Amino acid sequence: MYHKAINIIVILFLITSSAMASGDTKSLERLSWAFDGMTGKFDRESIQRGFKVYREVCSACHSIKALSFRNLTEISFNEDQVKSIASEYSVQDGPNDQGAMYMRPGRASDAMPGPYTNDKEARVANNGALPPDLSLIVKAREGGADYIYGILTGFTKPPAEVKLGENMYYNPHFSGGQIAMPPPLISNGQVSYTDGTNPTVEQMAFDVVNFLQWIAEPEMEDRKRLGIRVLVFTIIFTIMFYFAKKVVWKRLKK
Ligand code: HEC
Repeated sequence: MYHKAINIIVILFLITSSAMASGDTKSLERLSWAFDGMTGKFDRESIQRGFKVYREVCSACHSIKALSFRNLTEISFNEDQVKSIASEYSVQDGPNDQGAMYMRPGRASDAMPGPYTNDKEARVANNGALPPDLSLIVKAREGGADYIYGILTGFTKPPAEVKLGENMYYNPHFSGGQIAMPPPLISNGQVSYTDGTNPTVEQMAFDVVNFLQWIAEPEMEDRKRLGIRVLVFTIIFTIMFYFAKKVVWKRLKK
């Protein structure tokens, strides 16, 4: 009977975890991410490197509206580092006493400024295509992290039968195969890492996806921790009730 109960719990586990894993596109490579699974955690070193990739490459075209400089303390930057990163940016403030808006160095409490002031400007700079804000991109695309990694590493020469549009690039993971984003990560060492990690294209893609996963769901670790607590609690209570029931029925049967 006790074994049966454990079997049922294991089966429930398998059902829920396979349900969570479904929904991937088949042609995508399944990577193993630190944040995967019930006990998944963020790989903060990778996220820090990914932030560097975002700053030095992606932020030329993509905003992350959800990112305030002070959030960086959650990925192990200290307060001084955050202040110094923020101060490298110019942020609009105001109006001042004369009623004018003005620029000042960023502060920890500011949102990180994007590359364009509006969508029109963004389109003009990108041949009519709009580089999406990356705050929630991992959640907004089927395949999530694997998909974003697939896009970043999937640029290739188009097959002979494909006619590329003007200013379009071939990427078999993008729906329709043609994307308006030029391949952003093209050479090993494009971003220099300070922690000794080798900045191959694949590594930079992996790191920036870890970063984007974090920014899409910064509270993930808390959510998973709570989930495990609820599960343990439920299991303990199930076992307790099982034995309580046995005791009660033993008396009644007598
Ligand atoms: C030169 C500008 C430019 C740079 C640099 C750039 N992108 Fe893009 N990106 C775009 C444009 C334009 C689109 C829209 C493409 C389209 O809709 O065809 C896009 C689209 C995307 C998409 C959405 C794909 C989809 O499924 O809709 C992702 C994800 C993305 N970029 C990630 C990145 C990351 C990560 C980096 C940095 C490593 C980066 N981009 C660098 C211009 C850029």
